[in-house]
Amino acid sequence: MSETAPISIRRGADGEAPRTVTYTVPWRKGMSVLDAVLWLRTHVDASLAVRYSCTNANACKECVVSVDGKTAYACTARLPRTGVTVAPLANKPLLRDLVTDIVPPKERPATHAILRAAAGMCKDRLDLPDFETLRKKRERG
Ligand code: FES
Repeated sequence: MSETAPISIRRGADGEAPRTVTYTVPWRKGMSVLDAVLWLRTHVDASLAVRYSCTNANACKECVVSVDGKTAYACTARLPRTGVTVAPLANKPLLRDLVTDIVPPKERPATHAILRAAAGMCKDRLDLPDFETLRKKRERG
C-alpha cells in the first residue's frame, strides 16, 4: 500500500446506537468513495452494508449516501487524499450501515418486506414469526 486515505463510515442498523468507524484504504487519484467502500468490504469487513448496482455508470442511483454531509452518489463522489466521512441518508429510514430505504412509497409494499428481511430486522419490525416458530408450527401440522 503506497498512498492511503482515511474514510470514516457511520455504521449500525435501525434501532442501534450509530458508531463511526475510521478505516484506512489504498488511495489512487480519481478513485470513488464507492471504490473505497468496496475495497473495505473485500479486504477488511464483509459485513459493511452498501447498496450499488452499476458502479461508476451513475445509472442506477442506488449508491446515494451522505458524503461529508452532502447527498452524493458514492460511485461518482471522488475520495480525496485527505479522506471523507460517509453516512447513510439522514432523511430516509435506515436499514443498515450505508443502506437506507429509498424505495418510492408506491413501490413499497412488496420490496419493503424484502429489504427489512435482508437487513435482519423482519422479526422485530414486521412482527413475523422466526424460523423456529414456523418449524414447530409445521411439525404440529
Ligand atoms: S452505483 Fe449506480 S449510480 Fe452509483
